[in-house]
Amino acid sequence: MKNSDVLAALKGRSLLRDVDLKREEFIGLLDLSEQLRSEKRSATEKKMLKGKNIALIFEKSSTRTRSAFEVASRDQGAHVTYMGPGETQLGHKETVKDTARVLGRMYDGIEFRGFAHHDVELLAEFSEVPVWNGLTDLWHPTQLLADMLTIRDQTVKPFEQVALTYVGDARNNTANSLLCVGAMLGMDVRIGAPAALQPTDEVQIIAKRLAAHSDARILITEDAEEAVLNTDFIYTDVWVSMGEPTDSWAERITLLLPYQVNEDLVAASKNPDVRFLHCLPALHNTDTDVGAELNTKFGVSALEVTDDVFESKRSIVFDQAENRLHTIKSILVATLAGV
Ligand code: CP
Ligand code: NVA
Repeated sequence: MKNSDVLAALKGRSLLRDVDLKREEFIGLLDLSEQLRSEKRSATEKKMLKGKNIALIFEKSSTRTRSAFEVASRDQGAHVTYMGPGETQLGHKETVKDTARVLGRMYDGIEFRGFAHHDVELLAEFSEVPVWNGLTDLWHPTQLLADMLTIRDQTVKPFEQVALTYVGDARNNTANSLLCVGAMLGMDVRIGAPAALQPTDEVQIIAKRLAAHSDARILITEDAEEAVLNTDFIYTDVWVSMGEPTDSWAERITLLLPYQVNEDLVAASKNPDVRFLHCLPALHNTDTDVGAELNTKFGVSALEVTDDVFESKRSIVFDQAENRLHTIKSILVATLAGV
């Protein structure tokens, strides 16, 4: 199937989970992201979303996802309305289903970042316009497009030959999406996490089903060093996600310190070219309120990644962050304009 046919099939569709995309659709979006990135850089971008109105609903805070949706929309000629945490009637005085039916009458598409994944499903079902999941407790699909574009930018190997390791809290949205996308793309995908924070059976079943089609290799282990051995990319995320109780920190720090991405763990990869990825925000020093508070309470100057790794040449986190813009733009263009 031609790339244009693959992308045409996305017109009018929502993106709620990465695994709702077929492999060729995921790759088609990466190709379109690359094209849009080069058009933006050469100032030859065409505005394909003129006259479109886009709602951005955030029940949790955001820097990258919000910025990417706003800039991508404006670059393409669309208008956005940002509705931040607590700024709508949603969930307080109005059901998701009612909100969906109202917004669907006014907007051409809706981005939603929230808690229960079922809420984004309800929005998509009842708004009758494309809905894009900007992160729920279960999945972070727009993130993985940026991550895979970044990986593709960094290596000449096809995805099937790339080893990607995630260490840390592997029961969160980012880890779920990473495991399943890695499986869909046929990668050597590894998870290093304590048993209590490994992906649920439900997520593992989805990943294994995808791997059966793609010949992906999946390793889920409690041994962080085994997980990183000979890997190409080491990825981590925060140890306590948005919406989780802050009193989880004590337990998480005890469980996850052996999975911290520090120079020792990087060395255990035995790969001098290993690269470091993080969806951000990252707690890599004590210069934030949370970082300082955790240092005072628990004596830790960094959490999921140390400052030396974060600031090292192997860290490609800001390329990864920039790619949020180009990949989110590709989703908007493909689902709203068609290409
Ligand atoms: N990575 C990511 O989703 O960042 P924000 O929470 O800043 O949107
Ligand atoms: N797992 C993190 C991702 C933030 C982008 C969270 O949900 O807070």
